[in-house]
Amino acid sequence: MKQLLRRLWNTPPRQVANALMRRLSRHDSQIYTLEDIFTSPKHTRSQRPYDFLHRYQAIIRRHHPEWVDLDFAGKRVLESGCGPLLGWGPLAVYLGCSHFVGVEPMFNPAVFDHPQWSGRYLLNLYRDAVALFGQRMGLEQFLQQVRERITILPTTHLASSWSEPFDIWLSNSVLEHVTPLAETLLQLGALAAPGCRFLHAVDFGNHRATNHPFDDLYTISPDIYRQRFGSQINLHRCSDLRQFFQDAGFQTQLTPYYHARECYTATMLPWWRDRYDEETLFLKVGLFHGFRSATT
Ligand SMILES: C[S@@+](CC[C@H](N)C(=O)[O-])C[C@H]1O[C@@H](n2cnc3c(N)ncnc32)[C@H](O)[C@@H]1O
Repeated sequence: MKQLLRRLWNTPPRQVANALMRRLSRHDSQIYTLEDIFTSPKHTRSQRPYDFLHRYQAIIRRHHPEWVDLDFAGKRVLESGCGPLLGWGPLAVYLGCSHFVGVEPMFNPAVFDHPQWSGRYLLNLYRDAVALFGQRMGLEQFLQQVRERITILPTTHLASSWSEPFDIWLSNSVLEHVTPLAETLLQLGALAAPGCRFLHAVDFGNHRATNHPFDDLYTISPDIYRQRFGSQINLHRCSDLRQFFQDAGFQTQLTPYYHARECYTATMLPWWRDRYDEETLFLKVGLFHGFRSATT
């Protein structure tokens, strides 16, 4: 409660109202508002895509020294739930991808006309990319390629009729929101190019401002959880995801980012204890990575 109050205190009232509206409508047919996007330090931090990608790959490499960094050059890239500012799209374009598709049901196309989009966000991202990777293209060419090489589908995977194969598939804190997840992964498994590489960060916490990230989750059954707190998260655990990936033809490894065991004092319902081991139940963020097998 203390944490929630602190967060509310530090957030502008209109942002709180917008978040509340979204939560009440459980994200259905809601889109990111321009105010939500361009007043958010999180969304507008143009180093964020690189920081996440770099961090995730560094963590994976520590566990799997054979990991080879993703190479976007000439690749068709798919990002699920890319968020309001095209997620890893602009960075992938700078690094030479041939096409980037972002699937984002809450996408607001008015971002493209907002002065901060190319005037600040893309400009800063470009400067950062030049510093990190050297001058691969001029600013104008970068802006043009962002316009030409990025497609955003303002829908969910299952509702879209898009059918281009992809060579790299990414998501950041998205798969825990996707329903139905197994069906969605089956559809993507059928579309992924053989050998397609993927990297997904999945946050298994309750996504609520509680003291512990697993508060309320394991003391009630999933059905009761949904009745009380809505369906914002699908409640699958990492072992379920591994099975879904495997069923869809993806050879998957799971690298734990971190576990959150500390300070968890509640008694777990047998529903959870009987199905999952401790390692699984307390995995807070996991990195799923691997490739699509040539044949299923
Ligand atoms: C926690 S946000 C993460 C956004 C972004 N990846 C980031 O790192 O900021 C989860 C995103 O998943 C999107 N999402 C939810 N269900 C989805 C689905 N079935 N297919 C694709 N995206 C979905 C939401 O619209 C939302 O933008």
